[in-house]
Amino acid sequence: MASVNNARTLHNLALVGFMGTGKSTIGRIAAELMQFTFVDTDALIEARLGRTISQVFEQEGEAAFRQYEKSAVQELAREQRLVIATGGGLVMDPSNLASLKDHALVIWLCATPEAIWERVRAQTHRPLLQTPDPLAKIREMLAARTPSYREADVYIDSGLRPPREVAAQIAHQFHLARKR
Ligand code: S3P
Repeated sequence: MASVNNARTLHNLALVGFMGTGKSTIGRIAAELMQFTFVDTDALIEARLGRTISQVFEQEGEAAFRQYEKSAVQELAREQRLVIATGGGLVMDPSNLASLKDHALVIWLCATPEAIWERVRAQTHRPLLQTPDPLAKIREMLAARTPSYREADVYIDSGLRPPREVAAQIAHQFHLARKR
């Protein structure tokens, strides 16, 4: 686990991790507990563009989506008292992760490929999982992304406990990190 650098000012909390690890569900509850505002980078992009993430991928491709993601990260760096749920691929750009770490405690919500698959199998809004063998794709992408997720300050397994418990643990970790 990366140590929290004392020089940082932790104005915000950011949740990183793979699709289907509960970043939005858990983040919303954590924000409520902390009396912070909840923001989701995908929802922010959709609101700014007036299009869904699937439409952006379809019309402009993934590279364009990653640029919108980068702008969203830059926009959020100016804010305070936010719980930020990030898109699963956002931290693959090291400058996004560096920006988040500048103002937020970064928490990785981790889960096994099987737990992730259980959560996402009934959903259709994630373009990257629209493939013949989504579980294999999850395994492959998770393996490629894990080194970036490991750059987070704190790791929490979100596959094992109810969202409210995980959210309470997140709020607690934030409290502890701010006291350091
Ligand atoms: C993506 C994850 C999605 C969304 C987009 C790409 C990814 O967000 O940003 O479909 O690259 O893992 P969630 O992690 O919120 O599903």
